[in-house]
Amino acid sequence: MNEAENKIDKRFYGRIQGRKLHPTRKKLVDEFLPKLEIKLPEKPFSESELKSLFGIDPKEIWLEVGFGGGEHLAGQSANNKDIAIIGSEVFVNGVASLLAHIAGAHEDGNIIIKHGMTVSEDRADNVRIYPNDVRKLLDLMPEACLSRIFVLFPDPWPKKRHADRRFIGSTNLPILAKLLKKGGELRVASDDMTYIRWALQHLSESKDFEWQAEASEDWLKQPEDWVNTRYEQKAIREGRKPVYLRYTRI
Ligand SMILES: C[S@@+](CC[C@H](N)C(=O)[O-])C[C@H]1O[C@@H](n2cnc3c(N)ncnc32)[C@H](O)[C@@H]1O
Repeated sequence: MNEAENKIDKRFYGRIQGRKLHPTRKKLVDEFLPKLEIKLPEKPFSESELKSLFGIDPKEIWLEVGFGGGEHLAGQSANNKDIAIIGSEVFVNGVASLLAHIAGAHEDGNIIIKHGMTVSEDRADNVRIYPNDVRKLLDLMPEACLSRIFVLFPDPWPKKRHADRRFIGSTNLPILAKLLKKGGELRVASDDMTYIRWALQHLSESKDFEWQAEASEDWLKQPEDWVNTRYEQKAIREGRKPVYLRYTRI
């Protein structure tokens, strides 16, 4: 943690480490993550500083909060090579999983990093990772720098007394609104109806966002450019119907 991170006091309640990392994944975290990792600056990033973190001159910058195993981020970054995507995740096993998806070469269940890291590098030009609590990074990003924000299957915190830990809420929504460009999109998905009702209530109270749904069943449809997430697939397997909310920054 650097000095800038130390200055920001935010309590995080989720899991940070799970099972011990497989040696190949540990190698990815030790050797590949530093190439993609965003370090917090002492002063907030300007938009051009943020863009210069990537190996491309991006058309837009998107952010995925809590990417979990990274399936969605890896898919979106492969499908949108001209877009820069920042992913944030506190769970180190999730970060390792995203790195494995980006490195992409699997043989006999192992990830082969060919020629040092070169296999991965061209796949990684448009991805940067903040392997920590995203709120620390949000505080140091410039206004209106993002064209999209994904908050997909966020931790539901179903108990009423934990409701203020839900990511979508009155503390974070004004911050997300400040970072999104006008016309930019906030995409939220969940299979937890308590969370969906909570998100709908907070988003409808906000003057910054407009719901894109045209028909009542729209919220059950995956967006056209959707990439499946691990938690979404688990919910579907277990018989729950995910809801997909798309809001435009006014
Ligand atoms: C339920 S999982 C969903 C993962 C993934 N989006 C999916 O759909 O498969 C939520 C993830 O968000 C991460 N998370 C929660 N709060 C976060 C925060 N403030 N910053 C970064 N990651 C966070 C958690 O560590 C967890 O991996």
